[in-house]
Amino acid sequence: MIRDKGCGEIRESDIGLPLTLCGWVFRRRDHGGLIFVDLRDRSGILQVVFSPDVSGDAHELAHDLRSEYVVSVSGEIRKRPDGTENPNIPTGMVEMYVNKLEVLNESAPLPFGIEDAADASEALRLKHRYLDLRRPEMQKNLIIRHTVTKVIRDYFDEKGFLEIETPVLTKSTPEGARDYLVPSRLNLGCFYALPQSPQLLKQILMVSGFEKYFQIVKCFRDEDLRADRQPEFTQVDLEMSFADREDVIEVIEGMMKRLFKEVLSVKLETPFERLSFHETMERFGTDKPDLRFGLELKDMVDLSEKGSFKVFLDAIQSGGRVKAINGKGMAGLSRKEIDLLTEEAESFGAKGLAWIKVKNGFESPIAKFFPKEILRQMVPRLDAEEGDLMLFVADKEKVVHNVLSRLRLELGKRLNLIGSGYKFVWITDFPLLEWNDEEVRFEAMHHPFTSPVDEDIEKLLSVDTSNSELFTVHRSLFTDIKAKAYDIVLNGYEIGGGSIRIYRRELQKKMFELLRISEEEARMKFGFLLDALEYGAPPHGGIALGLDRLVMIMVGATSIRDVIAFPKTQKAFCLLSGTPSAVEPRQLKELYIKTDVPIE
Ligand code: AMO
Ligand code: AMP
Repeated sequence: MIRDKGCGEIRESDIGLPLTLCGWVFRRRDHGGLIFVDLRDRSGILQVVFSPDVSGDAHELAHDLRSEYVVSVSGEIRKRPDGTENPNIPTGMVEMYVNKLEVLNESAPLPFGIEDAADASEALRLKHRYLDLRRPEMQKNLIIRHTVTKVIRDYFDEKGFLEIETPVLTKSTPEGARDYLVPSRLNLGCFYALPQSPQLLKQILMVSGFEKYFQIVKCFRDEDLRADRQPEFTQVDLEMSFADREDVIEVIEGMMKRLFKEVLSVKLETPFERLSFHETMERFGTDKPDLRFGLELKDMVDLSEKGSFKVFLDAIQSGGRVKAINGKGMAGLSRKEIDLLTEEAESFGAKGLAWIKVKNGFESPIAKFFPKEILRQMVPRLDAEEGDLMLFVADKEKVVHNVLSRLRLELGKRLNLIGSGYKFVWITDFPLLEWNDEEVRFEAMHHPFTSPVDEDIEKLLSVDTSNSELFTVHRSLFTDIKAKAYDIVLNGYEIGGGSIRIYRRELQKKMFELLRISEEEARMKFGFLLDALEYGAPPHGGIALGLDRLVMIMVGATSIRDVIAFPKTQKAFCLLSGTPSAVEPRQLKELYIKTDVPIE
């Protein structure tokens, strides 16, 4: 044995024992007579002391110790003298007096101090990720991530789910992002796609009779990256046969309850709140609302119509909306501060931000366009009171919702309204179809295998899809159709989404027709699933959770990069390994790939 124990495990019960410990030199304080080193390993930190009275050799050698040297120390555990205890760390009552020091390895001077790594640029941290990951904070994040996956595996095992692996070299899946492609040497000119999710294969596992499947699985999507998006990320993916929406919801709520109790000692109340897609859009302007605070969006169309502000009237005239939120206690803002807020709204896509201060009556450049009585009616609608600032956006509904939902979050932060804790909500009753103006066709809001709700199935089956006027003229007929799809949202993050699937051939065929996916195209893309559905497919459905996002929220981080050991940058680049990179011309030749792009 190289060492007897972990540094962070030493307690008062070890006093008097001779022990050997190993670790990294975290901090070193030279007090002339005595040298103190905080020795760190994965289990924590222990103060070790070098005294010439105990060992002249060890004390001499300790002068040369530098940050992050790897050492082995042997000595006696002693109680710290009165007044020198450190109650902030578990080992704070004791210390080791070293009689033998061995330097196992030296360290080059560090690009950043392990302790101050949080202040170093993220690029530098990612380049030297091995050092960044030494930080106790990062170690904690990855340890929690490990525990989370272990609890999840145990939970699903107990519930009778089987973890079945699906291939990484596979065919394109219908999640709507761009694929990562891998050229095939043995089938020249052909490509594998890295899976955006195991969607089609988990449905096939249901046809195969496995009934309950789950997998903790890597997914790959080539899309624009953000703090909560990585090109490769991990899903907790599951699928169940003979199950409806309520079964899936119950399994997930049970899992969350177990997870938060075992990992964070937090008791979650179930069932979680539910909001229909329509209601969340009306009240919060987004399908991933943060319910930890209010500041809800309110419709102002009726009151706007009773005024003469042209911007509002024009928006309504052309089929748009006017909505508002209450800037609580913000009537004190100066013109300049309101201009900044307006610029912010404009950066979210607004054409402007109209405002009315509730302050000694009403103060606003647009107050003159409204009768006093109408202004007075706006106040209770927004739960406003003296000292508040009413903020309005008029535009197409999509723009109004996008701008106000982002402004709501911004105000929530600024006004310190976002409480702590965990607010889960299920978003249900999504529309089945979404109109794509550019391509002049419907798209599946979730994916093309998502089932409509039972009430709408007949309606869908009876549509004559050859009549294209139906799409353009009676579009609302279709946008009203609801899907058996659901998302789970936590503190304003979409942490999961799923649906009950179509399992009967004729409905799937109709769906493709509605989506203007030709038979050849469907065959080419999903032929193997369509074939499988011919052979006695059971009713089935499932969901996938974004594990990185879930762990990010559980550890209190603000980026999923902080819970992924080796993440990529916004440009999908790995600074540690320098990936992606050019390859040998020989490799390209073998694949018959030619590239003219000069590599930067
Ligand atoms: P969906 O596309 O909604 O559903 O993905 C499920 C969850 O995965 C997470 N997620 C991501 N996390 C990090 N980086 C990304 N780029 C990223 N993309 C998605 C989100 C999301 O809610 N096959 C369906 C599931 C089903 O129908 O069963 C699917 O993949 O938290
Ligand atoms: P204007 O008539 O352009 O001077 O605008 C008067 C006020 O209305 C300003 O505060 C603008 O920021 C605001 N405004 C302009 N367009 C919109 C809009 N589409 N929605 C809400 N407010 C707007």
